[in-house]
Amino acid sequence: MHQAKYKVISIVGARPQFIKLAALHHAIKHEKSIHHVIVHSGQHYDEGLSGSFFKELDIPAPDYNLEIGSATHNMQIARCISALDPLLDQEKPDMVIVFGDTNTTAAGAIAAAKRNIPLSHIEAGLREFDKTIPEEVNKLLTDAVTDLFFVPTAAGIQNLHAAGINKNVFLTGDIALDLLNNLPESNDIMHKLDIVRGQYIFMTCHRDANTSSAKNLEEILLGAAGCGLPVVFTVHPRTIKALQQFGLQELLQEEPNITLEPQGFYDTQHLIKNAAAVITDSGGVIKEAYFHKVHGIITDKQTEWVETVDEGWNSLAGPDKLKIMEAFKNWKIPERHSNCIGDGKAAARIVTEITHFLHARKQKDTHTRATHG
Ligand code: UD1
Repeated sequence: MHQAKYKVISIVGARPQFIKLAALHHAIKHEKSIHHVIVHSGQHYDEGLSGSFFKELDIPAPDYNLEIGSATHNMQIARCISALDPLLDQEKPDMVIVFGDTNTTAAGAIAAAKRNIPLSHIEAGLREFDKTIPEEVNKLLTDAVTDLFFVPTAAGIQNLHAAGINKNVFLTGDIALDLLNNLPESNDIMHKLDIVRGQYIFMTCHRDANTSSAKNLEEILLGAAGCGLPVVFTVHPRTIKALQQFGLQELLQEEPNITLEPQGFYDTQHLIKNAAAVITDSGGVIKEAYFHKVHGIITDKQTEWVETVDEGWNSLAGPDKLKIMEAFKNWKIPERHSNCIGDGKAAARIVTEITHFLHARKQKDTHTRATHG
C-alpha cells in the first residue's frame, strides 16, 4: 500500500527521455507525498538504446511497458495513445509528466489531455520553427495541451510568451544537466578504444533529415573525415540502416576511425568531454558538448539550443562538408560560458512546483466539495 497522497505518471520511450527521467526520479523519490509510476512506451527497445540506461542510471524498471515498437510516426503515436487510454483510466493519476519532443511525448500529452489529467511538460517551450521536423510537430502538439511548463532556457520562455502562454511557466534549466554534475570520475572507455584526449572527434548522427538523405549523410561523413583526426562514431540503428541502404558504409570504416554501437550514458559523456570536437545532430549531445566546454559542430540546419551557438561554443554547420571542416578549423575557445542552459538543479525545482500545484488543486477540490455538499 502506498501512503502517498498523489499519483504521478511519467511517460518515457526514447533514449534522451531515460536520462531526463533518471534526474527526475532521483529527486521525486524523496517527496513522500508522491507515488511515482513509470510507463515505458517501448518506442526504443534495444538494450543499447533502452535497457542499459535503466540499469546504469539506477532507474526502477518501468511499471508498464506498452511495447509500441518501431513504426511510422502516426502509427507510433496511435499505438501509444491506444495503449495509454485504458492505463490512465485504470490508474487515475493526479498528473502525467512527459519529456522532450519524441512521438512518445506527443502521444502521452494527447492521452492525458483527453482524460482531463493535468499535464507537466519537461523541456517545454523549445522551438525549431520548421514543421517538417518531426520533433517540432511533437513540441507544438505537447505545449498546446500542457498545464505546467518546465522550460530549460530563456529562449524557451520567450517562445511561450510569444504564443500567449504565460501561466505556470517555470524557468528550470535543463534537467539532463542534473546528471552531468555528478559524473563518476573513473572511466576506462578511452583506454579500451586506445584514444587520447583532444586527439579525436566524437560523432553522432540520427535525425530524420540526415538519415533519410544520402547526400546529407555523405556530406556529414566526408566533413568529419576532412577534419584530419580519427572519428569515433557511435551509430544509431536507423543510421546503420541508412548507411547500408545508401552504400556509404565504407566511408568511415577504415582506421584510424572507430565505429561503435550506441554507448551508455557515462561512456558517452567521457567521449564527449575528452574530444577535440563533437559533430552531431542530437539536441542532447549539443547540450552536453556545451556543458563540457567542448566545441560542438551541429549538422542540422537549425537548433533549439540557440544560446549555445550565440556564445560560440556550438557552430551551426548543417549537413555541409565544407562548413563542417571550416567550423572545425576556425573555432577559437569563446571568452564566455554563462551556463545558459541551466545550473544542474532543475529536478528539485520541478518537483517543488509539481507538489505545490497538486496541493493547491486538492485544496480547491476539497473546498468545492465542502461548498456543494
Ligand atoms: C527518436 C526521437 C528523437 C530522439 C531519438 C533519440 C521521435 C520522432 N524521434 O528518434 O527525437 O532524439 O529518439 O535516439 O520520436 N530502432 C532500433 N532499435 C530501437 C529503436 C529504434 O533498431 O530500440 C530503429 C528502428 O529501425 C526505427 C528507427 O531506429 O525505425 C528509428 O527509431 P524511432 O524511435 O522511430 O526514432 P529515433 O530515430 O530513435
